Amino acid sequence: MSDTSMPTAGPLPARATDYAHARHVGNVGDVFKHVTLAATLGAFQTPPVLYAESHAGDGLFTLGSVGEWTAGAAKLWGPATGRKSVDAWKGMVESLSKPGSARPEKYPGSPLIAKSLLPASTRMVLHELDPNAAEVLRRALSGSADLRQSDGFKGLPEVLAAEKGPSVAMIDPPYTGKDEWTAAAECLEACRKAAPQATLLLWYPLKALTRPRALLADLTRRDLHGTLIELLSTPLRLKRDRLAGSGMIVLNPPAGALEEICAALPILGPPLATHGEWSSNLIGF
Ligand SMILES: C[S@@+](CC[C@H](N)C(=O)[O-])C[C@H]1O[C@@H](n2cnc3c(N)ncnc32)[C@H](O)[C@@H]1O
Repeated sequence: MSDTSMPTAGPLPARATDYAHARHVGNVGDVFKHVTLAATLGAFQTPPVLYAESHAGDGLFTLGSVGEWTAGAAKLWGPATGRKSVDAWKGMVESLSKPGSARPEKYPGSPLIAKSLLPASTRMVLHELDPNAAEVLRRALSGSADLRQSDGFKGLPEVLAAEKGPSVAMIDPPYTGKDEWTAAAECLEACRKAAPQATLLLWYPLKALTRPRALLADLTRRDLHGTLIELLSTPLRLKRDRLAGSGMIVLNPPAGALEEICAALPILGPPLATHGEWSSNLIGF
């Protein structure tokens, strides 16, 4: 039977940014990032008035028969886990596939996951530089967000500064170069200055600890304090030049969010483990 869905391997349309999330969509990093996002948004007793992202992505992806999702979202496909944040994420992913499908057919990006967990009253402001990705995102959200085709590192702090009510913002660059690690730290610092009370999330990939720990040192030099949570599904000692896991830096989480993220780790770890073991780190700084 031919597969007419969009391939996740092979040539992709030319982009304004040298990153195509479609190659990585639904991978272990996305699973951790999106469950963490679900845990954070689900912990708010009163919904935030603003949800904003620096790097929003396409918003909705059709999964081909191969792709990194086979080692990520596919491993959690099946019955509910009983863990609120994991099941909230799973429910969103499953709602995009035909009932009874043996595997995920589509995968939602962070804006769609956030939209599914927030009331319509929460304003969404999303930055996406690539015009093709921005157009796909616009269609996926059916006009329900303020979508800005501009640099999210610069735009996110400005959006937060203009909002006085409870806000959530996520920084999620593609990390195609070392400079983006510094830009992510600068952006987090600017967001903190713009909105000291806002809940801020910064995701990063883990292939080795060098850059993540340099990022942590950079944040503390900037007098930023919060919690870092990492999930490793491949042991770092194997030194494969592939994603071994990812981390999320959380500033000002709503009450109960960190507990929910930590409780999700033993649900995610075993099915995602590539070599029979998984681990996690939690660092308060
Ligand atoms: C990792 S993906 C985002 C994934 C998305 N947040 C999710 O979880 O589904 C990074 C996206 O950032 C976009 N991008 C790259 N540089 C950007 C910039 N300076 N400002 C806004 N978007 C940018 C890329 O085109 C890509 O779609």
